[in-house]
Amino acid sequence: MRHNFRKLKDSFGRYITYLRLSITDRCNLRCFYCMPQADFNWMSPEKILRFEEIVQLTRVLARMGVRKIRFTGGEPLVRKDVVKLVADVNDLDGIEEICLTTNGVLLDALAPELFQAGLRHLNISLDTLRSDRFHAITGRDAFNQVWQGIIKSLDLGFSPIKINFVMMQGKNDDEIVDFARLAKRYPLDVRFIEFMPIGRHSKWGKEYFLSSDQAKTLIEKEFGKLISIARNKDAGPAEMYQIEGGSGRVGFISPLSHRFCSTCNRLRVTADGRVRLCLFSDLEFGLRDMMRKGISDSELSDFLSDIILKKPARYLTKKSDVPSCDRQMSSIGG
Ligand code: GTP
Ligand code: 5AD
Ligand code: SF4
Repeated sequence: MRHNFRKLKDSFGRYITYLRLSITDRCNLRCFYCMPQADFNWMSPEKILRFEEIVQLTRVLARMGVRKIRFTGGEPLVRKDVVKLVADVNDLDGIEEICLTTNGVLLDALAPELFQAGLRHLNISLDTLRSDRFHAITGRDAFNQVWQGIIKSLDLGFSPIKINFVMMQGKNDDEIVDFARLAKRYPLDVRFIEFMPIGRHSKWGKEYFLSSDQAKTLIEKEFGKLISIARNKDAGPAEMYQIEGGSGRVGFISPLSHRFCSTCNRLRVTADGRVRLCLFSDLEFGLRDMMRKGISDSELSDFLSDIILKKPARYLTKKSDVPSCDRQMSSIGG
């Protein structure tokens, strides 16, 4: 009998239509806020979901109503089969949007193949436009490479291209206006992200925190009032604005100052195949071993339908008023 793939819906009536899939925990940068500086080991290769496991998982999720898939990392472009993964997952029935969040280091080299494979939506992490500061934040001298990758992607016609700027007081807050200027000059969506405490070894501290409202005030002082853009019902967490005379737009992602959990439509899967129901919740469900034992599509679908009911309404705060989680960002992928 043909299996009836139920739509993925949580116990609060939220439909899950967006999968964030980490395809590797490895990275070619060492952003100080993302990875522990010492004592960390990459996952061993056999722990990482294999190509065919990713295809099975995404095929089942597509049948359950997932429409958008984002590949994240670590740095997804360090995975050898990333271009083929993009092409194969993009071909699945039901998948409407395939997206990638990258640090941009390998974009100059890989952008043409990725475009050919069908990728159009690119989010690029960039926290500074200054080469020396880039090294201080990421531990590598790769600013020029990333910038070339951005220009190449614009030339090739990727759209939208979103720039993710994590705001850190005392580290890069003096570049907020410069980044807003990027959105004026280029057709880029520049998104200012509130720094979140993620991972047991997080370098987060209240002294680094800068809210979206503070950034918006700085930008409006320089460029005049920002014009709010209405969001559609599936829009992500960013509040988007038009900047007067701008080719691109600016946006704010405010997980700490304005919660957006009530419209959460997402599910995360880590590189080792563990479902996370909320970025901040360490409650995880392993899929990899089941798939390696040959679970069928219908059994996998039933399992996903069951666990999604445990998705929390919002992130649960621990002792402090600031949410956090144990797993480090580089193995969740944002
Ligand atoms: P779009 O789909 O293009 O809107 O991208 P996105 O914002 O969903 O993804 P991206 O990987 O670019 O993430 C941007 C920032 O938003 C990162 O700092 C993520 O950690 C954060 N983010 C994305 N989804 C969530 C979420 O569900 N909760 C929280 N707290 N932060 C999120
Ligand atoms: N807080 C906010 N954003 C973060 N990112 C990584 N760590 C943090 C953090 N602690 C961003 C990266 C990337 C996206 C996946 O998440 O800059 O753009
Ligand atoms: Fe790598 Fe992204 Fe983490 Fe930086 S934030 S270390 S680029 S995974």
